[in-house]
Amino acid sequence: MPDGKLYKQGWSLDDIDWAKFDAAKVEPWMLAAIKAAALVEFNAPDYVAYLKRIFKDAGPETLASIEEWGREEGQHGRSLGRWAEMADPSFRLDETFARFHKGYRPAHFASMDEMSVRGSRRGEMIARCVVESGTSSYYSAIKDATSEPVLEEIAGRIAADEFRHYKLFFEMLHRQDEPDLPFWKKLLLAVGRITESDDDELAYAYYCATVPAGQEAAKPYVRTAFAKAGYNTTLRIYRRRHIRKLTQMVAKAVGVDPQGRLTQLAEALLWRMLRARAGLSGVTADAAARS
Ligand SMILES: [Fe+2]
Ligand SMILES: [Fe+2]
Repeated sequence: MPDGKLYKQGWSLDDIDWAKFDAAKVEPWMLAAIKAAALVEFNAPDYVAYLKRIFKDAGPETLASIEEWGREEGQHGRSLGRWAEMADPSFRLDETFARFHKGYRPAHFASMDEMSVRGSRRGEMIARCVVESGTSSYYSAIKDATSEPVLEEIAGRIAADEFRHYKLFFEMLHRQDEPDLPFWKKLLLAVGRITESDDDELAYAYYCATVPAGQEAAKPYVRTAFAKAGYNTTLRIYRRRHIRKLTQMVAKAVGVDPQGRLTQLAEALLWRMLRARAGLSGVTADAAARS
């Protein structure tokens, strides 16, 4: 844990102090971000099925840790969804997730391929490390950005899980009996996963989170618009230090010095890219204050 309480693995929804919920401290933009995050997390069973195909010969221990990982991700979705239902009584996690799941089915989930879309098991693990770097930094940022006590606790618990997930996939990466990937390939895989722009996952989750079913006809899904709105909300949550941590974790996964110049450069580029995607440009006083 980078800061605060030490949250151990294996918590349940009953461990959360729901009675501390304070509706006055819920901010609408944070609520939108939490609904969207709940949908993405709740999609874990599709990822579990996919990863189990890729690692079908990896032995029972690996398969069990993939199952456990999926259970934890699903619980992240359930806890975030329950918080969102408390904050917005018109929101229903199960109904909204059904819409999201119907509209977001990437090809690699639907196929029965046993080869990772990243080209190898090592490639798959690098992509997973990138995702867990992103989620651990994101929930750390949510924990820091909210003053709502229950969300602070949930985000703290999830962030701790996400750091453990990174460690799990980092260790799996180095356990693979495949030859190590050339550096350029690892770099491309990491950059590709970070910048994956043709993926509807986050944009469509943000759409389902912010446009109720009854308003779909009036407000149809436009990927670019909802991706931009999603990035805008993301940037309200992140501070530069969270992006630094994210970049350092990705650097470690691809074999680059997390404290080195290349990592610092990547951090600056990533920060700039996020701002560009959110429709912001240049360095403003606001951005400087976020550092
Ligand atoms: Fe998660
Ligand atoms: Fe995770």
